[in-house]
Amino acid sequence: MPLIEVRDVSKVYDLGEVQVTALKAATFDIDQGEFLALVGASGSGKSTLMNTLGCLDRPTAGSYKLAGEEIATMSRDQRARIRNARIGFVFQNFNLLARTPAVENVELPLVYAHGVTSRERRRRAVEMLQLVGLGDRLDHHTGQLSGGQQQRVAIARALINNPDILMGDEPTGNLDTRTSREVIEMFRRLNQENGLTVILVTHDQAVARNARRSIVLRDGEIICDTTDFHQAQDALLAGQEAGA
Ligand SMILES: Nc1ncnc2c1ncn2[C@@H]1O[C@H](COP(=O)(O)OP(=O)(O)OP(=O)(O)O)[C@@H](O)[C@H]1O
Ligand SMILES: [Mg+2]
Repeated sequence: MPLIEVRDVSKVYDLGEVQVTALKAATFDIDQGEFLALVGASGSGKSTLMNTLGCLDRPTAGSYKLAGEEIATMSRDQRARIRNARIGFVFQNFNLLARTPAVENVELPLVYAHGVTSRERRRRAVEMLQLVGLGDRLDHHTGQLSGGQQQRVAIARALINNPDILMGDEPTGNLDTRTSREVIEMFRRLNQENGLTVILVTHDQAVARNARRSIVLRDGEIICDTTDFHQAQDALLAGQEAGA
């Protein structure tokens, strides 16, 4: 069974006067252990699709199954439960508390978890920071860390619940070329060595090149789904020309 099964998923934003169709009948599977990039021009529906896969939002029509469970008909609370159990999310702007030590930022998702003692919480946070290569920065306030280090703290926080899937919407969008390289390397390692399924929205060719599969969106439609990076680049360029 695929980890993710998306069937005819559409998303329409109803703004009263107008309706915006952000996603049109998307259909695909994602297996456990894949490394997938979602690419496309601005407004093509990448974040809409990512928010759907991340159980943050519900499709207007269609079926989305995560590990066999239908998400499309779940309530907000049910989706939050699934998200906490299975998905770690990282953001373009890191979303860290700047004046708080790295280790406390990483612990945060467990503060309200039932049955996890503060000692166990600390142990797991230290372990996750070691995993992302920041074992020597535990007590640094995140505001004192470089951009690449901050994003690695955010990755450690995303991993604290031991998720199956790591998702990010433009996780290297605020980083320069060199620091984005260390973050890309982190995603690559987590995928290859720790077996995490990684799904990233990206404009960054270096990120897309590291992914083993790309889904290209144009105006809410999947126009290409390929394991050939160059084929994805061609589809992306053709899409841009068609849209211009
Ligand atoms: N909450 C919303 N309400 C109404 N329309 C929305 C909403 N969110 C997105 N849209 C519209 O849906 C379409 C897809 O938006 P989406 O944010 O998914 O694009 P994107 O590919 O992530 O773009 P970008 O690269 O700029 O982040 C756009 O036309 C956008 O204006
Ligand atoms: Mg977006």
